[in-house]
Amino acid sequence: MNAAQAAGETPDTAAATKTRRGRKVKRTLAGAFALTIGLTGAGVLASALSPDAQVATAQKDDAALVQEGKDIYDTACITCHGANLQGIQDRGPSLVGIGAGSVYFQVHSGRMPMMSNDAQAERKTPRYTEQQTLALAAFVAANGGGPDIVYNEDGSVAQESLRGANYDGNIQAEDVAKGSELFRMNCASCHNFTGQGGALSSGKYAPPLAPASEQEIYQAMLTGPQNMPKFSDRQLTADEKKDIIAYIKSAKETPSPAGWDLGGLGPVSEGLAMWIIGITALCAAAMWIGSRH
Ligand code: HEC
Ligand code: HEC
Repeated sequence: MNAAQAAGETPDTAAATKTRRGRKVKRTLAGAFALTIGLTGAGVLASALSPDAQVATAQKDDAALVQEGKDIYDTACITCHGANLQGIQDRGPSLVGIGAGSVYFQVHSGRMPMMSNDAQAERKTPRYTEQQTLALAAFVAANGGGPDIVYNEDGSVAQESLRGANYDGNIQAEDVAKGSELFRMNCASCHNFTGQGGALSSGKYAPPLAPASEQEIYQAMLTGPQNMPKFSDRQLTADEKKDIIAYIKSAKETPSPAGWDLGGLGPVSEGLAMWIIGITALCAAAMWIGSRH
């Protein structure tokens, strides 16, 4: 049957209409099927490529993790912090009750284990893997709790996505403005107005903030390493801390040599997600247009 016939020029219009309907239903079904396949594929791709999935959440059960942490502690930390974490005079403070967050901050930023002749525990390349760091944190926390690490929903440690916990994914201009104000009042005296850092008395210094991940900034505020004061949630609420993080991150717009740490994946994965959603939407639109002819 040709197009002219289908348009109703034959006497046999009823049959033609039926065939046309049949084809239309088939095409719509095929389109829906293709769309489902496409969406599923895009979803699988997105979840496979998201950094949260890559930061493998091979969480061992707690007891095994604590034991692994104890083994590392006994070889690398015990000489300064003591067999029962009670601390050793002139070597290191007690770690009882300091919490997983402080350990994660200290070990993840390479400060611990400290070299015995260091004047100030400095940021270094971390000695331990993520898994070992979490093991150490679990071991110390098992001996008396304290501020915890901030986790993603899937159980991995939030590095650059802390904002996601309270923000809708985008840093809003008001958050940065609020954060800038709070930063000037609470942090600038030591870290400088732009977070560049500065010298303190007796040879100590406040470091530049650009290399710190959002988790590290958050934990630094909560745990107050060395000469930095603690900012409890009563002094700065969790929201205010996140505003400050938003400000610090917006202040270091330019890519740094340290830009390819874990956090460097953030914008890439966001872009990827948008790309996949965009492509899927385009496919859907193309099929919809196609089905109308
Ligand atoms: C050479 C001695 C030394 C070694 C080894 C050492 N530390 Fe420390 N640690 C210190 C000192 C000193 C401080 C206090 C830093 C300061 O306030 O100036 C400290 C501070 C800490 C803190 C912060 C405590 C707080 O109150 O927030 C944590 C957590 C920590 N160490 C964990 C560890 C872990 C885990 C290891 C092993 C991987 C380790 N340390 C190895 C000397 C050491
Ligand atoms: C009294 C001075 C002082 C104030 C106020 C202060 N800090 Fe600090 N800060 C320090 C010092 C000193 C260190 C280095 C501690 C160390 O190396 O263990 C530090 C370390 C840090 C780090 C770790 C950086 C890194 O390299 O890993 C971060 C993040 C940080 N501060 C954020 C803040 C924020 C945010 C505020 C305000 C809410 C603040 N600080 C207020 C003195 C200060």
